[in-house]
Amino acid sequence: MTQYVINGGNPLHGTINISGAKNAALAILPATLLAEGECRIENIPQVTDVAVMLDILRGVGASVTQLDDHTVVIDSGGVRAESVAPYEQARRMRASYYLIGAFLARFGAAQVAMPGGCNLGVRPIDQHIKGFEALGADVQVKAGFVHANARGECLSGSNIYLDVQSVGATINIILAAVMADGLTVIENAAREPHVVDMANFLNSMGANIKGAGTDLIKIRGTKRLTGGSYAIIPDQIEAGTYMAAVTSAGGEITINNVIPKHLECITAKLEELGAETEEFDEAVTVRRTGSLRKANIKTLPYPGFPTDMQPQVSACLTFAEGTSMITESISDNRYRYVDELKRMGARVQVDGKVAVIEGIRRLSGAPVQACDLRAGAALIVAALGAQGTTKVGGVFHIERGYEDIVGKLRNVGADIRAEDTNDPNLLANTQTG
Ligand code: EPU
Repeated sequence: MTQYVINGGNPLHGTINISGAKNAALAILPATLLAEGECRIENIPQVTDVAVMLDILRGVGASVTQLDDHTVVIDSGGVRAESVAPYEQARRMRASYYLIGAFLARFGAAQVAMPGGCNLGVRPIDQHIKGFEALGADVQVKAGFVHANARGECLSGSNIYLDVQSVGATINIILAAVMADGLTVIENAAREPHVVDMANFLNSMGANIKGAGTDLIKIRGTKRLTGGSYAIIPDQIEAGTYMAAVTSAGGEITINNVIPKHLECITAKLEELGAETEEFDEAVTVRRTGSLRKANIKTLPYPGFPTDMQPQVSACLTFAEGTSMITESISDNRYRYVDELKRMGARVQVDGKVAVIEGIRRLSGAPVQACDLRAGAALIVAALGAQGTTKVGGVFHIERGYEDIVGKLRNVGADIRAEDTNDPNLLANTQTG
């Protein structure tokens, strides 16, 4: 088992290149099932969630050729209507639910194991199902599988109002609607950058999707989508995590290969904490020299402050001057990292969706355990600014979504290394988010 060993207190200096967006890749890869012909997808991040998605695609019969570390060619000609996304793979990753939308669009029928138990709390898929039903599918959950079948020859366009601005439901409904008969309108759609990226990818294959990036998306069904080449956008949350890292550790780093517009919600908050930022066309520089100030955070759908950045910025606030209040309004179990931060001396009280952080001058290194992807990132952020040595276990969670985080941080002067350990206290669990 691997753990990360971090000696805190080194300011960071240099540049970090950001990889492709994990959550965009997890939507675009299953979307290739709709193309007649090969899809070449570039800027794929080398993270385990993406590897699992590629395995799922192989498992249902797609041919996946890895051209280099970040480029794959997918030909889904061999995928059959009766292909089933099996439990063992689907349970490993929630995004396996995109196979339902993709199979429904292509074959009018889908059988996908119910996405796995997840450690961010209750995350239903009722809005996905409501969308599929509105498009004319019967959906049933039987023996652990979601069975979806078009009632007619194919799905038909419809008006769908989402009760919550769900990223997954928005993407899944777009997938199902893209080859349906007529016009589909999604109201109260999610506006996250990866929703836009997936729509741009589908449009580049011949789809007719308008309004992605707003809360009203219109999809006019097309009969046929062709293959092509597409490069995935940079990862907003990976970039935000390194911005939080330098805010915690101090120093100055330039983060390359980003879309600064996507980072505004994070940049604004880090400036409130006392970091200075400078924006360029495809880069952002973040500097932190003085002490950190308190700030309040409320997570919201894009363009609000992302839930996927709440743990990392909260970690910075544990050593800010004053008391900060965090309101987590998207996920209902995203404070599990707090107990680990407390081992490092942090003073945090959690009550339901609210956390109150009383800043202290310094955290001290401790053995801690990552319990999900962003919780793990938060522990690294805290460890970089802490005094002494922190050992982070459960790093497989972190490697689900961060490409070479150890190498990237070492390049900017962090004292971090991965080492094998037999420590029985570092028990791994296999939950994914
Ligand atoms: N929700 C429902 N019903 C649904 C779907 C969602 O009530 O049918 C609720 C959820 O319970 C949650 C809220 O709506 O309270 C938002 O969930 P959403 O569907 O937007 O989340 P998701 O699509 O399952 C994606 C990301 C998450 C990220 C959230 C929020 C992927 C693969 N995952 O999840 O990413 O936290 O959006 O932005 O895109 C991560 O990368 O660490 C991660 C967990």
